[in-house]
Amino acid sequence: MARKLTERKIVVASHNRGKVVEIAELLRPFGIQPVSAAELNLPEPEETETTFTGNALLKARAAAEASGLPSLSDDSGLAVTALGGDPGIYSARWAGPERDFDLAMQKVEDALQEKGATDRSARFICALALCWPDGETAVFEGKVEGDLVWPPRGTNGFGYDPVFVATGRKITFGEMDPAEKHAMSHRADAFRQLLAACL
Ligand code: IMP
Repeated sequence: MARKLTERKIVVASHNRGKVVEIAELLRPFGIQPVSAAELNLPEPEETETTFTGNALLKARAAAEASGLPSLSDDSGLAVTALGGDPGIYSARWAGPERDFDLAMQKVEDALQEKGATDRSARFICALALCWPDGETAVFEGKVEGDLVWPPRGTNGFGYDPVFVATGRKITFGEMDPAEKHAMSHRADAFRQLLAACL
């Protein structure tokens, strides 16, 4: 059985504002006070693992060690079927050093066009890792299936949200009310598992 999180202050081991905001919203009902890695000036470790789970654990361990607090990390991305799962764990890197997601979405679309792909299915995947300062960890992986649209639509959310339509929906995550996205996203799926095990 996974260890219960009894501490009320935890570090969100991410420098991505979009993710920190979403995770803070997920934690709010439990009275947990999240403080971000950026606020604590924690260094951003290099993501050297080859899976979402591996990178989530790496980030959570680094933040727990550096802060002495329990830490929660998120490693996530978009896996496109016709691109063999790309950009996958490299989803942030496809946006270049300027973190330009208009560019990243364009790269995905260009790769699909180059392949003449008719299969536009994709999924967002999210690994959430919890790490305590004594080194104990727990990790959970969630996903949401959907299809990619072009051109991008909507200004809500972040990253690849404007090109992703979840299965059974007509609007993109970028057009969706944030609360609706939070209820059905890959992050919500992973969070439900974490909740059942650790909260
Ligand atoms: P990393 O986990 O920090 O390496 O970055 C994951 C990247 O995946 C983010 O920068 C986003 O581009 C993308 N991503 C992850 N979750 C979402 C989401 O909920 N919506 C849109 N893009 C996402």
